[in-house]
Amino acid sequence: MKKFDELFKRIKEQAMAVDNVIFELIPEKEPKKLYDAVRHYPLAGGKRVRPFVVLRAAEAAGGNPEKALYPAAAVELLHNYSLVHDDIMDMDELRRGRPTVHKVWGVNMAILAGDLLFSKVFEAIAKTPVESSKVVRILDVMARTSNELCEGQAMDIEFETKKEVTVEEYLKMISGKTGALFDGSATIGAIVGTDNEEYIQALSKWGRNVGIAFQIWDDVLDLVADEKKLGKPVGSDIRKGKKTLIVSHFFDNANEEDKAQFMKVFGKYAGDARDDALIHDDVKTEVQKAIELLRKYGSIDYAAEYAKNLVKEANEALKVLPESEARKDLELLAEFLVEREF
Ligand code: IPE
Ligand code: IPE
Ligand code: MG
Ligand code: MG
Ligand code: MG
Repeated sequence: MKKFDELFKRIKEQAMAVDNVIFELIPEKEPKKLYDAVRHYPLAGGKRVRPFVVLRAAEAAGGNPEKALYPAAAVELLHNYSLVHDDIMDMDELRRGRPTVHKVWGVNMAILAGDLLFSKVFEAIAKTPVESSKVVRILDVMARTSNELCEGQAMDIEFETKKEVTVEEYLKMISGKTGALFDGSATIGAIVGTDNEEYIQALSKWGRNVGIAFQIWDDVLDLVADEKKLGKPVGSDIRKGKKTLIVSHFFDNANEEDKAQFMKVFGKYAGDARDDALIHDDVKTEVQKAIELLRKYGSIDYAAEYAKNLVKEANEALKVLPESEARKDLELLAEFLVEREF
């Protein structure tokens, strides 16, 4: 995607600066198993889009992005903590192209690794080189972001075994589990960069909508991506019975026979079901059939379009900020997030 080449270069450059901070916070250390588990996802990479949002938001708001390096590391640490715990809950075995933390070190160590990544978030924020009143405000945003993330994740899990989930409920759930952290990232960057409340609000709104669009696109990728490129399992949401926008469009439009066919595999591993047959070939075939049904009714395209429209709306909100390269990067990033293949 040529359109994004320059953007990728800048994400990479900034990710290197953020990584210095991250690995200063989580060095190799005893107990070795714990710290190996903690470092596993950060070492595996990832797109690093949330810290980029922090740094670019700080600059787009008129500030110095260097002052936002610790908060940028903090949001990536919070994200990694949520991934470790999410993979336990979703029973997934692949992340960033590697076996998941709980798969390598066991569930107990994975819970602790997540906890440690979480406490490092606050250690990072405390080091932010801005006035202490701003540090307190950043802490408050981070704590609220994490509250919302947990609420969203709890809804996500409850929905696995809930028969009917409305579109409104789904949007509330993803706004919590994913929208909150994009909102938090943009807001925190803005707080570092400016005292202008109008700018802070605009960036917060942008982040929220981008985050919601990001999750809808993630739900699309769970069905259509190439597993090698994605670095995580394809079809996981079908097995777990995740009530996505795609699935609700399907249920609103499919005939009874197709719905019955879909239900043969949808939610087969919902709730606390644990079964090593997860990757058996017959399950894979059933998942593929279910995905074909979603395609048949245009449900995947419907969700993709929905995400793209949200990004347009998000980028409109940025217009109150002065034009700059940083603002342009945020707009471009938002577009990338609903075109990406990984
Ligand atoms: C995955 O986030 C978790 C979701 C909110 C869907 P990313 O797709 O940003 O994961 P990495 O950081 O690039 O691995
Ligand atoms: C997770 O959503 C959002 C988080 C808070 C981690 P998903 O469960 O869809 O994320 P992936 O697909 O496993 O990355
Ligand atoms: Mg997951
Ligand atoms: Mg999940
Ligand atoms: Mg997903």
